[in-house]
Amino acid sequence: MGRINIIGAGLSGLSAALTLAEAGIGSRLISLQRSERSQSVLAEGGINAALDTMGENDTAAEHFADTMKGGVYLADPNAVDGLTRNAPAVVTRMAQLGVPFNRTSQNGIMQRSFGGQKKKRTAYAKSSTGKMLMTALIDEVRRYEVTGLIQRYPHHEFIRLLTDGGRCTGVRIRDTGTGLCADLDGAVIAASGGMNGMFPGRTTGTTMNGGDVTAGLFAQGVLLGNPEMMQYHPTTIGIPGKRCLISEAARGEGGRLYIMKNSGERSYFMEEKYPELGNLMPRDVVAREMFFVRRSGDTEGEVMLDMTALPEDTWKNRLSDLREEIIRYLGTDPKKSPIPVHEGIHYFMGGIDVNERHCTNIPGLYAGGECCSQYHGANRLGGNSLLGAIYGGKTAAQTAAAAFTDCPDREPIFTEMTDPLLEEARADFSERLAVILSGGLGIVRSEKTLTDAVSAAKAMDLANEREKNRLALGLAMLIGALERRESRGAHYREDYPEASEDYRKTTVAQNCGGEIRISFRDIPERRTDREDNA
Ligand code: FUM
Repeated sequence: MGRINIIGAGLSGLSAALTLAEAGIGSRLISLQRSERSQSVLAEGGINAALDTMGENDTAAEHFADTMKGGVYLADPNAVDGLTRNAPAVVTRMAQLGVPFNRTSQNGIMQRSFGGQKKKRTAYAKSSTGKMLMTALIDEVRRYEVTGLIQRYPHHEFIRLLTDGGRCTGVRIRDTGTGLCADLDGAVIAASGGMNGMFPGRTTGTTMNGGDVTAGLFAQGVLLGNPEMMQYHPTTIGIPGKRCLISEAARGEGGRLYIMKNSGERSYFMEEKYPELGNLMPRDVVAREMFFVRRSGDTEGEVMLDMTALPEDTWKNRLSDLREEIIRYLGTDPKKSPIPVHEGIHYFMGGIDVNERHCTNIPGLYAGGECCSQYHGANRLGGNSLLGAIYGGKTAAQTAAAAFTDCPDREPIFTEMTDPLLEEARADFSERLAVILSGGLGIVRSEKTLTDAVSAAKAMDLANEREKNRLALGLAMLIGALERRESRGAHYREDYPEASEDYRKTTVAQNCGGEIRISFRDIPERRTDREDNA
């Protein structure tokens, strides 16, 4: 029988493969690295679902409302409706697959506070939730690998989509060990993660997610949604080559942000300005306040995260892994001393433009997980990414399965090929582009920083097709930000500091041979006729 090709073997790719296997449809899981090394294992704090195990009368309707508000009403409400209504079933299933979620005294799944949510809604396994979810799914997928229904292609990279008459008919991949390529038939689900590799040294994510899949698809006519929307996580620390995440769980469990005033007193600036949610305001707000408080002139030094008042039980049962990480990288025990924290690029709300069923504008091509754009609007709430990855992979697979027509399963033939996309981007090109993009796409943006960045990007020398594609992706981010003349969520323009109803729209970017066209599309109305998808 024929197979569906899945690009990426993190949480979303595994969820897609499993969904297909359970429907009796074969797949190929194609990934640059093994699942165990994917970005998903780095996720720490938890996964959101209105399980209501904490006696707070939580509901999916409130999860929906918080997600829409957190994303400043830019997310697709029908997609978010599906996500939040199905979240309890997703988390319950993961518990059944053996994820060791922390438990309440009544053996319910324990839930903690996370940013932008008034109720405790984040289920967690200490501060290694991503790793635990991945371990469970890897195991489940293995059952179908044994039967041959799921075939693994680790250490293989996406080169290009194969198309016929505007329809996706397959994918070209390269074995990174031998350098040989093969053309694989079948529909494609992109589950290739975020675009961290566009920002080496500046992001909490793995730079193995280079953005090349998104950049390649963009060059082949796939539309992008909200490419300017990227999230800065407020609490990260610098380590060689990247930013290390200090989970929002630290604040969810009672950690407090402060900065020293020139007078020598501490200013708990988040608690002072936002008495209701304080340190747990949505990430865009916290990151921006940190940026502003540092440059206020009335303070000095870095913003500090104080966890010294957390009870022993919290360190032992909820944050032991985080503590170990901080000691390893900073040499400071957070139980005893506050630690300096800084904003770092963490997540891409924008990406491949998909509808609520995860279809792209190219028939036969679907996308799920962080590489696509519809759940998080202008700012993602912590704990919604793991959920979006599992639910999104599943939904993309269900849609692909519904369109699946059986055909012979041709064994891939790996041969030497010539293809302009086989040439890598140069490291110095990537670093120069990162400097330009970071200059334009900071926490605070303006017409000046953005136009300077666009001009610098357009002046770059290009050595090959991959660099051309990456540049186009970077330009889509910059020009999207330039054209969005308002402030909304993670996109803050100091020259347009308010949100404008005129821009409560999805930014749609099109790559016309390297020239970027931006348009704005209305957000769909929320329908009321939905069925659960669990
Ligand atoms: O802070 C964190 O633990 C990150 C969680 C997330 O991005 O969902």
